Amino acid sequence: MFFLLFILILISHAIAITKYEESYLEVPIDHFSLSKTNDTFKLRYLLVEQFHIKGGPIFLYCGNEADIKVFYDNSGFLLDIAPTFNALVVFVEHRYYGQSMPFGPKSLNSAEGLRYLTVEQALADFACVIDSLIKKYFSTMITNISYPIVAFGGSYGGMLAAWLRIKYPHLILGAVASSAPLLQLNNLKLCENFYHIVTQSYRNENCSQAIKASWEAIRNITKTHEGKKNVGHIFKLCKTLGNEDDVGKFIDSLEEIYVNLAMLNYPYATSFLAPLPGNPVKSFCDKLKSYGTIQTPLALLQAISSALEIATNYSGTTKCNNIEITNNEPTDFAWGFQACFELIIPMCSTKEDIFEPISWDYEKFTKECIKKYGVVPYSPNKLFLEFGGATMLKYSSNIVFSNGLLDPWSSGGVLANISDSVVAVLIPEAAHHYDLRGANPVDSKYVLDARKFHVAQIRKWLNIS
Ligand SMILES: *[C@@H]1O[C@H](CO)[C@@H](O)[C@H](O)[C@H]1NC(C)=O
Ligand SMILES: *[C@@H]1O[C@H](CO)[C@@H](O)[C@H](O)[C@H]1NC(C)=O
Ligand SMILES: *[C@@H]1O[C@H](CO)[C@@H](O)[C@H](O)[C@H]1NC(C)=O
Ligand SMILES: *[C@@H]1O[C@H](CO)[C@@H](O)[C@H](O)[C@H]1NC(C)=O
Ligand SMILES: *[C@@H]1O[C@H](CO)[C@@H](O)[C@H](O)[C@H]1NC(C)=O
Ligand SMILES: *[C@@H]1O[C@H](CO)[C@@H](O)[C@H](O)[C@H]1NC(C)=O
Repeated sequence: MFFLLFILILISHAIAITKYEESYLEVPIDHFSLSKTNDTFKLRYLLVEQFHIKGGPIFLYCGNEADIKVFYDNSGFLLDIAPTFNALVVFVEHRYYGQSMPFGPKSLNSAEGLRYLTVEQALADFACVIDSLIKKYFSTMITNISYPIVAFGGSYGGMLAAWLRIKYPHLILGAVASSAPLLQLNNLKLCENFYHIVTQSYRNENCSQAIKASWEAIRNITKTHEGKKNVGHIFKLCKTLGNEDDVGKFIDSLEEIYVNLAMLNYPYATSFLAPLPGNPVKSFCDKLKSYGTIQTPLALLQAISSALEIATNYSGTTKCNNIEITNNEPTDFAWGFQACFELIIPMCSTKEDIFEPISWDYEKFTKECIKKYGVVPYSPNKLFLEFGGATMLKYSSNIVFSNGLLDPWSSGGVLANISDSVVAVLIPEAAHHYDLRGANPVDSKYVLDARKFHVAQIRKWLNIS
């Protein structure tokens, strides 16, 4: 009994004191040009040494499109399993996000500043960090096996983890790629999947009809100046809706919230992209249903606005809702650039979805990208040339692709086993890279099984039983 208690205290203590050391590595701004070899910048990474014992592997999280601390805080799985592997844990920031700015504040200037924001450059950054870690932690060259280094990543970070294994197999032994919608890149065939899955999440909670009806209500009511004012008032917008453009932006901002709730539909409260309650889709739908039968379009909008407060006002301290804010964040600017030029993911919605139907128009998309960033897009085939498309995955090895079946991004995930060592894990009832989150008492058996699967694969790669 005492022994058990002691272990519990030790465990909670370990979780409480897990600390990273913030480090920086000088890396080339341009890895692929000889003419500028002395231009460098400081790439940030977070190092957790406390579980590491000499000879243990390195677990490397491939940072994606945000400050690396966001991923550190939301990917506790790496830290949870580090002690049993004696692993060193490293979270590497993606260039152009957080503190890792090649040209300082000028980095996010269109065209000129964003030139070196590419997948290849980001992977080469990771390779530089790995090189420096190898020199520091593996004193002797390992010649007969690959270095015991495992990459992890969620979402775009999951694609990066898989690509890191594909591109640098001599540095990376294997990759756990969670919720990586690799197959959706430039794939018009999967265009509709994403919004279908979002819709299904709301349909499961019986509130898809109300959301669907709200668009027509908004369009109708905002036809007049008075109506625009009313809607602005109902949704507590910071600025009243001035014109049709604003109405479009307002609708986009609502759609973004619905998508985020579906993506972040975890069973406990989180604060990943925004503070949210547990089961946010159900929370929203339950609140909406508490209004009973809704008679008028205005009453519908009132109910929706109130129900949406579980997302927009979870803390109860939001003064007003800004429909533009997401587009102005530096992170969204850099990600918008990547989504425009390299990571092109066709998305469209149909009549069956809770959203207004939108078709995919590549030309229009390209024009808007050029207007916003002043850069001509890469060839849409660039990433296929670089890493191979879906059918080429069979030539790789040691990759786990995991997908939560509630996650809209499972729309483009690798959902079937490719070979003995490029394998897929499907996680029922799980949202966006749930499996990479730290352990939680309410985790389902499905998620625990997925994590066990990852651990078993990693053991196999590391050749330990
Ligand atoms: C790079 O080296 C060249 C030649 O030595 C020098 O003129 C230039 O200022 C250097 N650039 C930076 C950013 O240090
Ligand atoms: C690698 O070589 C060392 C030294 O020769 C040997 O002890 C070890 O078993 C080898 N490992 C593998 C995986 O072959
Ligand atoms: C949704 O409605 C159906 C049919 O009325 C019902 O069987 C089901 O339990 C409801 N689900 C929820 C989550 O309310
Ligand atoms: C929108 O307006 C049209 C015509 O003015 C009307 O037929 C329709 O019922 C209205 N829809 C809503 C949701 O108010
Ligand atoms: C947020 O909640 C507080 C407390 O209930 C309320 O006073 C405020 O109006 C709400 N703000 C928004 C934007 O919903
Ligand atoms: C892939 O193979 C593993 C066994 O190696 C199995 O456990 C898993 O369920 C398979 N995945 C899918 C999606 O069938």
